[in-house]
Amino acid sequence: MEVKNVFHMNKGVNHTSYAKNSLLQRTITSKAGPIIEESARKVYNSLRPECLMMVEMGCSSGPNALQVVSRIIDVIEEASRSIIGQCPQFGVFLNDLPGNDFNTMFNLLPNFNKDLQEAKGSSCEPCFVSGIPKSFYGRVFPDKFLHFVHSSYSVHWLSQVPRGLVSENGEALNKGNIYKAYCAQFEKDFTLFLRSRSTEMVYGGGMVVVLNGSINSDDPDSIFELLGSTLQDMVLEGVIEQEKLDKFNMPFYTPTVKEVRKLVEAEGSFALIKLETFTVDWSVDASQNLETRAKFIAKTIRAVVEPFLTTAFSHDVMDDLFLLFETRVKERIARKKGEFFTIVLSVTKKE
Ligand SMILES: C[S@@+](CC[C@H](N)C(=O)[O-])C[C@H]1O[C@@H](n2cnc3c(N)ncnc32)[C@H](O)[C@@H]1O
Repeated sequence: MEVKNVFHMNKGVNHTSYAKNSLLQRTITSKAGPIIEESARKVYNSLRPECLMMVEMGCSSGPNALQVVSRIIDVIEEASRSIIGQCPQFGVFLNDLPGNDFNTMFNLLPNFNKDLQEAKGSSCEPCFVSGIPKSFYGRVFPDKFLHFVHSSYSVHWLSQVPRGLVSENGEALNKGNIYKAYCAQFEKDFTLFLRSRSTEMVYGGGMVVVLNGSINSDDPDSIFELLGSTLQDMVLEGVIEQEKLDKFNMPFYTPTVKEVRKLVEAEGSFALIKLETFTVDWSVDASQNLETRAKFIAKTIRAVVEPFLTTAFSHDVMDDLFLLFETRVKERIARKKGEFFTIVLSVTKKE
């Protein structure tokens, strides 16, 4: 099963959709905002393109991607006004896998354009937005085309579940330590991501990648470990078959800062500007009561992983699974706080 053919967030705008349950990711991107702004400003100041080409990689559906695009346009407008008194045109590309709900995204565009027009007036040149349904692990744009690349909470998703976790005769091999296989897959994918962007970006172009990382390799405190043990509970209850669970693996890897730095240096096309980290509580707001926080966390995770889970398990068990997950999350955060460790990488394309 090819991840790129099946992977997407929960579609639409209903109560389980990603569009309605992505405050966590919005908060994380917002915390990385100063680094994104600094990079965009620097790109404009050094290149001053008449039309600035930028891409939001892994845009998903919902308001998050356009919010960060607005923020980038704001800083570039400010920088250009003080230098030449006029804003450049913008080519904005919203990229995700073909299964992404681009329609929900496109429905937000009339308001996005209206708000932009109202805020900037006629002094701002048009902004041309389009959707690009293609995996970012590989070429997406022509050579030397992009000035600015941003990606948030997307490149920790791998292009595939590492090969070798299921034997030739279909037997699951994931019961032992599978960390090494995931780390090797991330190395391969992230290097391909960097190499592809390197060809697509102009010299002096900027890229900021925000991703879920780990403080230590093979972090046992990951929220997906908790989801895994909840699935195991469902096996014990007889709702899910053990064999299906044994064969199921998430295409997800959270690298350490050291691993990211090593891969950027080894690939060699980019100069490292910043490599910073911060944490955000699983529930965004740790001052809320436990019930509210557990509900929020379960809904956030469901919006991200439900479509992928339903490639292995019946859609009918999802309500029960996430109800039980909510209980497990509540027990866990009552005992010990849970946080998303985030890595922010800012680079420029070298000459
Ligand atoms: C958790 S969402 C983040 C969305 C958005 N950036 C945000 O911060 O709200 C991750 C997105 O990455 C996309 N994604 C994962 N692998 C991808 C790939 N290989 N190519 C393009 N998009 C990918 C997923 O489809 C999903 O929409």
